[in-house]
Amino acid sequence: MARLSSKVCLITGAARGIGKAVAAACVREGAAVVATDLNTELGPSAAAEVGASFAELDVRDDAAWRRVVDAVLAEHGRLDAVVNNAGITGFDLSPTGHDPESLELDVWRAVMATNLEGVALGCRHAIRAMRTNDPGGGSIINMGSRSGVVGIPGASAYAASKAAVANHTRSVAIYCAEQGLGICCNVIQPAAIMTPMWEPMLGPPGTPEHDAAVKAIVADCPLGRFGTAEEVAALAVYLASDESAYTTGASFNLDGGTLAGVARPRIELG
Ligand SMILES: NC(=O)c1ccc[n+]([C@@H]2O[C@H](COP(=O)([O-])OP(=O)(O)OC[C@H]3O[C@@H](n4cnc5c(N)ncnc54)[C@H](O)[C@@H]3O)[C@@H](O)[C@H]2O)c1
Repeated sequence: MARLSSKVCLITGAARGIGKAVAAACVREGAAVVATDLNTELGPSAAAEVGASFAELDVRDDAAWRRVVDAVLAEHGRLDAVVNNAGITGFDLSPTGHDPESLELDVWRAVMATNLEGVALGCRHAIRAMRTNDPGGGSIINMGSRSGVVGIPGASAYAASKAAVANHTRSVAIYCAEQGLGICCNVIQPAAIMTPMWEPMLGPPGTPEHDAAVKAIVADCPLGRFGTAEEVAALAVYLASDESAYTTGASFNLDGGTLAGVARPRIELG
């Protein structure tokens, strides 16, 4: 039996990358999926390709959240899972201003607005909608990052935003438990998942620079490769399903072992 049959899922940042893969996986598991994004060029065709409907949603916009969530409730009568996936590194906005010393306040604020405020708004509107579910309950899945666990000097705003997402996840989880809502909230913390997000950092595919950059990144990963969006989507499906009903406030590292330690010691001990 499909693991998400009769569930209604809303996914942000679903025009490409991880969000699109999550939308596809939720559709495959029988959910009615509303794929959302601010990108109205890619979004509608991406949604159609995976069998989801599309709604324009800039996660920074409180009024847009209200409109889209109300439309989902009007059409489907409930909302079971919200995947707060939309996020930016800020490298598209500016190549500089990402280390703690040369921080540019407008870049910092832009990253926080999407990655942190967008997730906080998503949690608020998810709780509002899920409160009305009958039968009750729901699942909120936030997209954090390995960068929210360790310091990343070259992407300090991004790293700070993802650390805050992880802790907001815990606040939401405990709040929903206190309220007896049956709503779980968890955070997925991927590292190095090959998506278009990496393009500004890796350079054009097929070039020696690209290959060298990929090699340098996977050198620190015990499993020695990039992850795939589908591998993230598989975890999102589990967290959206009833199989994870006893799991809340948890952080899931999806990083090829990167946070567990190094594969081989680089120095001789003793
Ligand atoms: N790819 C990785 O290696 C990796 C690692 C750790 C965490 N993540 C996180 O996973 C999530 C998805 O990453 P991805 O690699 O698929 O990125 P991506 O850049 O390929 O896709 C992100 C999507 O979010 C959308 N988006 C951006 N700002 C938005 C906004 N304000 N409102 C609505 N949509 C918006 C974009 O239009 C795009 O479709 C992000 O939160 C990212 O930080 C990714």
